[in-house]
Amino acid sequence: MGQAHRIAIIGRGTVGGGVVDILAREGAVIARRCGVDLELAAVVTRTPSRQRSQALPPGCRLSADFGLVLDDPSIQTVLLLVGGTTDAREICLRCLTAGKHVVTANKAILAEFWDELFACAERHGVCLGFESSVAGGVPVIGALRDGLVANRIDAVQGILNGTCNYILTMMEEAGLSYDEALAQAQALGYAEADPAFDVNGSDTAHKIAILARLAFQTRINFRQVDIRGIEALGPGDIASARRLGCRIKLLGIAQRFPDGISLAAAPTLVPLGHPLASVRLNYNAVNIEADAAGPNTLIGQGAGARPTASAVLSDVVAIACGERALSGPRAHGAPLFDLPVIF
Ligand SMILES: NC(=O)c1ccc[n+]([C@@H]2O[C@H](COP(=O)([O-])OP(=O)(O)OC[C@H]3O[C@@H](n4cnc5c(N)ncnc54)[C@H](OP(=O)(O)O)[C@@H]3O)[C@@H](O)[C@H]2O)c1
Repeated sequence: MGQAHRIAIIGRGTVGGGVVDILAREGAVIARRCGVDLELAAVVTRTPSRQRSQALPPGCRLSADFGLVLDDPSIQTVLLLVGGTTDAREICLRCLTAGKHVVTANKAILAEFWDELFACAERHGVCLGFESSVAGGVPVIGALRDGLVANRIDAVQGILNGTCNYILTMMEEAGLSYDEALAQAQALGYAEADPAFDVNGSDTAHKIAILARLAFQTRINFRQVDIRGIEALGPGDIASARRLGCRIKLLGIAQRFPDGISLAAAPTLVPLGHPLASVRLNYNAVNIEADAAGPNTLIGQGAGARPTASAVLSDVVAIACGERALSGPRAHGAPLFDLPVIF
């Protein structure tokens, strides 16, 4: 067994359930592989009485009150797996202020309150991990922060929303209309009952704002992202793209130019030979143009309980192992440069 590291989950939903599941199946192997024994000490969720498919380990406390976590000095890391921005921001700040590391999949609070959250983490000498906030199980944050740390990043382009990629794939391959493809995505559980945030490009914009901070180490205001969705696309657009030797993909794009950077989340013509053109269905992919390493493309499951929980646990293990990569300027894209957003 490794050294014990006590964690709490706040939000026992899709991702929180995935974490409970992976810990139950793989916790012992993770402990042997990494030398840290992740002990699930508490789960806080809005309706603790609701039955869930994953049982909690013996001794794990269950409550609706996150004060339980704040008041327990033995809990070192909080996995903040609640959506929305109001409660999630408050819980995040209070956990950081209480001296607890936080790992979150909530890209909305990161995109909107980045500076405030990381300033708070730094003040209290704790880490804020966010691998799971972009592209689910695809380890793109670690790639930018660690694997490509010696590079100047010139561009990041990503298929960052599986719902949109599924809809566009079905429009192209099965000849469905936008409404038919969306209905199919909803029936398969790939799209929310209210899919607006996905299909209007906002979700992709949150994610590209996060990636751009790490890629360019400059201050990014999420509102500077040029956002366009896929709702107005029809069969004519798909056919025109095909005639041009392209596919339409909703991409998040962050690009470096001599006099600044551009940030966009928009339907984009992708030439058929480009690695992103062949990414189908609900898959995510990120292409990173790095000056020394060259182009790198990562492809995988961008959402879902287990892929996202896999990313959450990668941060938890890094924190539990005391890896320095999750603190200091490179961990959160501290603004070392002043690059204007030019368009
Ligand atoms: N699902 C994915 O594939 C995925 C992928 C990447 C990132 N994310 C992000 O991860 C976060 C969680 O997503 P999810 O899909 O797991 O959401 P979810 O299934 O809706 O689960 C959220 C959970 O949070 C709990 N909750 C809500 N408000 C709370 C509060 N104030 N205090 C304590 N618990 C509260 C709810 O509890 P009850 O069930 O007890 O009512 C619910 O179970 C979101 O920010 C999402 O954008 C999700």
